[in-house]
Amino acid sequence: MRALVTGGSRGLGYEVARGLLAHGIDTTILGQNAENVAKASRELGVSGITCDVRDYNRLREIKSQHQPFDIIVLSHGVMSEKMSKTIKATKEDWDRTIDINLSGVFNVVNTFADHMVEQRQGRVIVFSACLGRMSGPGNAGGLAPYRISKAGVNAFVRNFAHETGLGARGVLVDAICPNHSQTDMGGPNALRTAAEGAETAIWLATRDFTAGVDQTGLLWEDREVVEW
Ligand SMILES: NC(=O)c1ccc[n+]([C@@H]2O[C@H](COP(=O)([O-])OP(=O)(O)OC[C@H]3O[C@@H](n4cnc5c(N)ncnc54)[C@H](OP(=O)(O)O)[C@@H]3O)[C@@H](O)[C@H]2O)c1
Repeated sequence: MRALVTGGSRGLGYEVARGLLAHGIDTTILGQNAENVAKASRELGVSGITCDVRDYNRLREIKSQHQPFDIIVLSHGVMSEKMSKTIKATKEDWDRTIDINLSGVFNVVNTFADHMVEQRQGRVIVFSACLGRMSGPGNAGGLAPYRISKAGVNAFVRNFAHETGLGARGVLVDAICPNHSQTDMGGPNALRTAAEGAETAIWLATRDFTAGVDQTGLLWEDREVVEW
């Protein structure tokens, strides 16, 4: 089994990569900062790819140079500026956040997931956020670019899961909410460690699955399904 973990150079993605390795999965990480990628690759003992997920052409190039992946975990992401209410948000902040958090997910899945569909086996797990949920506190105002990018991610996951047959054709597609975790994005005072925040993604990537019995195409938190 071969896995690609975007955002694997730091934070939750790094912990996901570590967890997949512990399951014996041949794992490659991807990040945008060459130094971070090199450091994480060295520490984990995995291959690293430096690429901005906004760069669609570069992703296609990378695809042509690598063996196909059976698992893709999309853990890359950026937070929007603190004062990013809809009227206050800058156009730059909106574009950057949507381009990385949402279009970046499309770019990676569109590039790498065709192999899974063809071989009728694969897993796509995307880090969403509670702030992107349309139920509960999700879209209750503030951090507009971030919240809306994650609501878009939820829609992306649900749509792609239906396009691939909700597990009936061997491809599982799910979103996860890691909860507030200690990373560069989450800050040092978050309640859970990065390893705890990564746990459900690792489980989704490696769990046993029986079509018609187990569920996919959903938003998960702590191994439980939550409302979108
Ligand atoms: N931490 C939390 O409390 C929390 C809560 C809810 C949801 N999430 C979500 O969980 C995911 C991981 O968050 P995190 O806390 O681990 O964040 P983080 O510590 O800030 O790490 C972000 C990762 O994304 C990569 N990245 C950022 N922009 C990129 C780009 N344009 N192209 C390629 N890679 C890029 C970074 O790569 P470089 O190292 O190369 O910069 C880094 O590996 C994100 O989607 C985030 O929205 C986090």
